[in-house]
Amino acid sequence: MAYIANCSFSLLLWFLQILVSEQRRAEDAWGRFKAEGCDLLHPMEGLKWTQSQKLGNDTIYTGNLTVPLSPHVEDKDDTPFLDLLVMLRVSPGGAEPVLQHCGGPGSDATCVLLGDNIPGYAGISISQRGIGVTATPNFECDPLHMKLPANGKLHYEISDFTDCQCALPDGTPLVGQSFANLDPQNDSQVEVLFEGMAFRSRRCAADSRWILTGPRGKKYNFLEWSGTRMLAHDIDFLRSRICAPKLNLYAISYGTAVAAVYADMFPERVGKMVINGNMPPVPYTLDFAKGQGMALTQAFGHLERLCVKWTSTHPCDYFSDEMSLTKAWKGLLGEMRARRLTAPTNRPSPLGGNESFPLTIGLLQGYIQEQMNQAGYVPTGWAEPVLTLANLAGMRGQEARVDQVAKILDRYCSLPAGYPFDWSGLKTWRIYGACIGQQSLGLSSYDAKAGTKSLDGYVNEGAVLGQDLFGRFTVAQAMGVYRTFRAEWEEMATSSFVGIFSAFFSWEAEPVPVQTGFRAGVRALVVGNLYDSACSYTWSNHMRESLPNAVMMTWQGVGHCLLPEGSYPNSGMQPCLNRLEQYWMTGELPFDGFTCRTEAPVPLGNFRTETQ
Ligand SMILES: *[C@@H]1O[C@H](CO)[C@@H](O)[C@H](O)[C@H]1NC(C)=O
Ligand SMILES: *[C@@H]1O[C@H](CO)[C@@H](O)[C@H](O)[C@H]1NC(C)=O
Ligand SMILES: *[C@@H]1O[C@H](CO)[C@@H](O)[C@H](O)[C@H]1NC(C)=O
Ligand SMILES: *[C@@H]1O[C@H](CO)[C@@H](O)[C@H](O)[C@H]1NC(C)=O
Repeated sequence: MAYIANCSFSLLLWFLQILVSEQRRAEDAWGRFKAEGCDLLHPMEGLKWTQSQKLGNDTIYTGNLTVPLSPHVEDKDDTPFLDLLVMLRVSPGGAEPVLQHCGGPGSDATCVLLGDNIPGYAGISISQRGIGVTATPNFECDPLHMKLPANGKLHYEISDFTDCQCALPDGTPLVGQSFANLDPQNDSQVEVLFEGMAFRSRRCAADSRWILTGPRGKKYNFLEWSGTRMLAHDIDFLRSRICAPKLNLYAISYGTAVAAVYADMFPERVGKMVINGNMPPVPYTLDFAKGQGMALTQAFGHLERLCVKWTSTHPCDYFSDEMSLTKAWKGLLGEMRARRLTAPTNRPSPLGGNESFPLTIGLLQGYIQEQMNQAGYVPTGWAEPVLTLANLAGMRGQEARVDQVAKILDRYCSLPAGYPFDWSGLKTWRIYGACIGQQSLGLSSYDAKAGTKSLDGYVNEGAVLGQDLFGRFTVAQAMGVYRTFRAEWEEMATSSFVGIFSAFFSWEAEPVPVQTGFRAGVRALVVGNLYDSACSYTWSNHMRESLPNAVMMTWQGVGHCLLPEGSYPNSGMQPCLNRLEQYWMTGELPFDGFTCRTEAPVPLGNFRTETQ
């Protein structure tokens, strides 16, 4: 998951590291799939390659997969059809397809553009239903719902910026995949969030655009025909169109659920399978939210303990025995509760000067978690979150402190960027004195060059996970489980729990629960980091339990997913990378429980961290 959130970058450079030419095998693969004239490039009806272009030595094919909304035989004369974007990346000498999923939910077919192909393989990706720029219907709000409010109002609300029914209701704090812009210990603030999200779930579900009508007039609710189970059907349809007897699967983060659901439904069609940074196999909303909270207890606790141990290593040397990172964090909590950790807006204050805008505990938690996740894709370990806390605690001066607050507010409290409209990218906290962001508006920022959206719009969580996971609660019941969780765990975990739980505890559309794994015979390689701050190691371990013929491989390190970009000198990751390479080349799995030890501490210095 969040598994999301930043996994989109994580395939980058992954395959550059391995340079093996397996011309001979690739030809065999071509030969096999050419049977009856059908193969990857000459697919059967239902898949059409419409465009191709060069990217370095590779060729990128863009295609159109037309799938029945309902794969059930009872519906064959009634079902509407959907067009899904598919992308294929072919390298010289590599032709065996490997289905890649980059996580989210929210990543799309452009996943194959993010990294080089595994030597000998051709990456193929699919945009799941409702997701990606071309998807119709689209889970996210339409940019045409956006507007700019009149200037000079005293207070600004979400409805000043959008008419979309799936945007958050006015007064709802901004909330992301695993954070919420509030004090996670404050009962009344959490209740406002839960009430708002319950209302959003109902209003969004009532939107007429979800009702699709078949050729004979039968109506389908798209919000019940677009979860991970349907994606698995679409993936198998794709497999059948290219006449591949088996499909290899490589998935990270939320993509691990996609691969494991596919493996559960079509175990005999799974070739090689690597699932990295795993989702939990049990499809229960409450367990999912607790697991998300626990990922952060493990990760942040590890950070605190590291900085006690490494007080002489930069940047932990900003802290000391007298003022540990833990003590500084406690101090920051108090300051945020008193609304004293602020940055100046552009709005004149009646008292003179500019109004100031406060940072909340939940927003800081979201930011720290994001930085801890990113250790999966950058070789700086956890230097960044340590610096953020040093800045906020005033250890690098007052200016650095205020700048850091502004930077965090800029990250979240700003309108979706990348659109050709005058609202695009505006910083709402500075201009309007309100923290209204992509999540509030149900619209992610757009990258025109890559043709992709970021993963911050926050409708995907409800729409996809709301289908995959069973367990619905009233607001009063949700408050009850929240209080129980809060009684046991601190702010970091609770804020994360509240953020994700709010997305689906009362999601209106009925669940179509997935079985993630729980299937014998699948010889998958399950990979997990001990301190993955998005997908808890517990989840990876459960995934291994649910696939009895799988093998588990662990790195003791930090960050979301095990990827070479997150490695650093003496990280200890290399033996795990070698095993992955070996598996793709020969199919040979490591010993179950193979563990790569962190030889050096999580790097806390020696990197260009001062410049951030
Ligand atoms: C393309 O292939 C040539 C010849 O094999 C190689 O020298 C070059 O580095 C490759 N370029 C890229 C971008 O991979
Ligand atoms: C995809 O294929 C369907 C069915 O052939 C067609 O109606 C649709 O226009 C195609 N879409 C694109 C984007 O090519
Ligand atoms: C909880 O938040 C509300 C609304 O922001 C505030 O009025 C109240 O004082 C807070 N309660 C505590 C115990 O901090
Ligand atoms: C105060 O607001 C004005 C615009 O109204 C802006 O130009 C100025 O930079 C702000 N001052 C600070 C300290 O942010």
